[in-house]
Amino acid sequence: MKFTLKIWRQKDSQSKGKFAKYSIDNISADSSFLEMLDQLNQKLITDGGSKPVDFTGCPVHFDHDCREGICGMCGLYINGRPHGPDKGVTTCQLHMRKFKDGDTIVVEPWRSKAFPIIRDLIVDRSALDKIIQAGGYISVKTGAAPEANSIPVPRYLAEKAMDAASCIGCGACVAACPNSSVMLFVGAKVAHMAYLPQGKPEASRRVQAMIKAMDECGFGNCSNAYACEYECPKSISVTHIAKMNRDFLFASVCHEKEVISSGS
Ligand code: SF4
Ligand code: FES
Repeated sequence: MKFTLKIWRQKDSQSKGKFAKYSIDNISADSSFLEMLDQLNQKLITDGGSKPVDFTGCPVHFDHDCREGICGMCGLYINGRPHGPDKGVTTCQLHMRKFKDGDTIVVEPWRSKAFPIIRDLIVDRSALDKIIQAGGYISVKTGAAPEANSIPVPRYLAEKAMDAASCIGCGACVAACPNSSVMLFVGAKVAHMAYLPQGKPEASRRVQAMIKAMDECGFGNCSNAYACEYECPKSISVTHIAKMNRDFLFASVCHEKEVISSGS
């Protein structure tokens, strides 16, 4: 297969970026999107050895790690959609057979104020880490693993928690949202612990702290577009956002009562 690629090139967060055009052929329909980019980079390296190149002739920088849909590193905006045209897959799992031979493919980084561009297609997603640091944990004494059946968990709750825990932190929900909202990610992270007995003691403090961190990082609010759920490679449900909002309201009211009853 052959393709024309229009790829966003940007030297660093301070420089102005632009699209650069590349032609590539001899791509197997069974290649993944990242393997296709590997082939392009190999070509750019080979061509660069024989003739002088400007910045856009250097290999394209893009993030990746597991290439198995697990780590969430490989987010690319492909033809106007986070992770490209396939449903329920990450960019590393997207295959070139999903495109037509001769297609022009436009590749951009995630676009969000909270995700500044580091270089080309790589963005700084450390805002997600800040949200996790604010409350995405439970406080327990470490030591030997406890007996697995010491805290029974109803199966329906375990399944809900596992569904939420399948979020890989890729940031596609932010890229898809017209408001750059990260509420699907935060909702999933809040829910996966709130459903389990181990996560309940800190549930109120957690939801308040994570929402505060979310606001401080500059993400927008949910506007019910549902684009996040549609584009999420793990099909995380927007019902987690609804649960998070309910938990936040409950936590705020209870906190308010505590303040009134303590007279402070
Ligand atoms: S909710 Fe989905 S799109 Fe958002 S970070 Fe998690 S896996 Fe990625
Ligand atoms: S490289 Fe890990 S999810 Fe794509």
